[in-house]
Amino acid sequence: MHDVKTTQVSKNTNNSGLIESSQAGVHPCLEKLLRRHLQTPWAQPLHRPTLDAYRQLKYAGVLPSYPPLILDSGCGTGMSTRGLANLYPGHLVIGVDRSQARLARGQNCSPVDKSGNCTMVRAELATFWRLLANDGCNPEKHFILYPNPWPKPGHLSRRWHGHPVFPQLLSLGGEIELRCNWEIYALEFALAVGIATGETCEVARILPDHGVSPFEKKYLERGHPLFSVYVPAKTTAGFRAAWHAGRFKQ
Ligand SMILES: C[S@@+](CC[C@H](N)C(=O)[O-])C[C@H]1O[C@@H](n2cnc3c(N)ncnc32)[C@H](O)[C@@H]1O
Repeated sequence: MHDVKTTQVSKNTNNSGLIESSQAGVHPCLEKLLRRHLQTPWAQPLHRPTLDAYRQLKYAGVLPSYPPLILDSGCGTGMSTRGLANLYPGHLVIGVDRSQARLARGQNCSPVDKSGNCTMVRAELATFWRLLANDGCNPEKHFILYPNPWPKPGHLSRRWHGHPVFPQLLSLGGEIELRCNWEIYALEFALAVGIATGETCEVARILPDHGVSPFEKKYLERGHPLFSVYVPAKTTAGFRAAWHAGRFKQ
């Protein structure tokens, strides 16, 4: 996966669908915000329906110990989840998305697909990641494909690297691949990984042969530049160890 074109115009994109933002580079408050998240316990209550969905997976014996696990966070219709399941037959791939409509479009609403090696879950990612982290879950690979960019500067804390859940996301460990069509998001994500882990993390421009997900397909068809941030497992492993050793206040 790592080696590697709708005409609807949203309020954050121009006529060709490219992200529009008044932000010209990495957000000046990112580092300060992230350092605060690294030191401050996240006290927000858990999202109840996500807790229920998570418990269902646990009762079904899927979590937390089913090895080896791949996460497809924000999986949308689950096209990429199924693609990953085909690529990695010895793994269980869990696609997570909060949108019932998107999951239903991919006809993958069933909570656990026991016949195959993938399953889709309707859940809020921030709570889902937190629950996984609390259970010490350690996915081997974690894909975050085309997350909502939240391009307004005032929405920094809604981007995953500015969100209070970011430390828990990193503490899951495993290799992470983030893909997006907004270079600033990719640069910020890489910078945030670097600040938290102490390891340099690069942004790569990618040109996949085919779209692995509906959004990637759409962007490829439109000729958008695409970016990937690849975080090796050894980078997250150090952070995971420090997290579980209580080096950060939790
Ligand atoms: C831009 S779409 C990308 C979907 C898919 N990964 C793709 O590449 O086609 C972002 C997806 O993330 C989901 N999403 C955004 N925030 C979420 C959250 N907090 N919890 C769960 N899903 C979320 C949305 O419902 C949407 O399906």
